[in-house]
Amino acid sequence: MVESLNGNIPRGRITGVKMVELAATYGHEGIRIAREPFYLPQGNEVALMRAAYLEHLPVLLKGPTGSGKTRLVEYMAFQFGRPLFPVGCHEDLSASDLIGRYLIKGDSVIWINGPVLAAVQKGGIAYLDEAVEARKDVTVVIHSLTDHRRYLAVDKLNETFDAPPEFMLVISYNPHYQSVLKELKPSTRQRFVAVELGWPPPGLEQTILEHESGVDAATARLLVEAAGKIRNLVTQGLEEGVSTRELVYAGKLLVKGVPVRDALFSTMVEPLTSEPDMKQSIIELLANYFRVR
Ligand SMILES: Nc1ncnc2c1ncn2[C@@H]1O[C@H](COP(=O)(O)OP(=O)(O)OP(=O)(O)O)[C@@H](O)[C@H]1O
Ligand SMILES: [Mg+2]
Repeated sequence: MVESLNGNIPRGRITGVKMVELAATYGHEGIRIAREPFYLPQGNEVALMRAAYLEHLPVLLKGPTGSGKTRLVEYMAFQFGRPLFPVGCHEDLSASDLIGRYLIKGDSVIWINGPVLAAVQKGGIAYLDEAVEARKDVTVVIHSLTDHRRYLAVDKLNETFDAPPEFMLVISYNPHYQSVLKELKPSTRQRFVAVELGWPPPGLEQTILEHESGVDAATARLLVEAAGKIRNLVTQGLEEGVSTRELVYAGKLLVKGVPVRDALFSTMVEPLTSEPDMKQSIIELLANYFRVR
């Protein structure tokens, strides 16, 4: 339906309407972050992102799951006062999902902006999450937005949209999952200012846990210490270390009175591995800090 209409639409019948369905819940204005998100910088990432924004450079956020990438982008969107247009990338994502498409509505044809085109038009922040999951042809579509050209060519509309200075493109990926098959092309990677996030340093992570979950300082410190030990298991075959996000969940469950063993198993053991030996190793480590046996 959509593709067959390509190029045959009388322009008078095209009206700019809402956002594409994958972002429809946010409306065509993107997300306006009303309150300042809580974000504690791990290092120079906020300064880097601010400089990149002012210089109109795109940013590639690298970091493991739950390390604060999305929170950082929300924080920056708030700081810049710009709407946010997030897109979760996956292998079925098409260029039309990002840019837009024609749809037939009743007896008329409408054009639905995709989130990237909407972000260009509104001067917002387009955030492509897990960009490595998108097909290579999709990432190439955004190339013209990432260099000095800063425009988005929309073949179907036979139009080119120049990005205003407020527009920013941010993509994220988790290098840990990368494989030879799933890696951004060098020609894509090398168009971005790369900002790397890791696990927050212990004192900082403790403050994050206290703030986000309401857990007391002593428990937060133990959670962070235990997490540090668990993260070392990555060298012994654990796929990925426990995330700050899971530690926040652990704190929240504890605050709600969930027994320690249950709270920690369901946040710091089960989500990390299904391998009995690895589980046992994690439990042994946790037992040095908490009553989990
Ligand atoms: N530096 C930080 N300041 C404040 N909160 C943080 C920070 N880092 C992590 N968090 C906490 O960890 C949670 C997870 O962070 P976030 O969702 O941003 O991770 P992510 O890197 O986007 O993960 P994913 O790759 O899985 O999407 C946040 O909701 C927040 O509670
Ligand atoms: Mg995220």
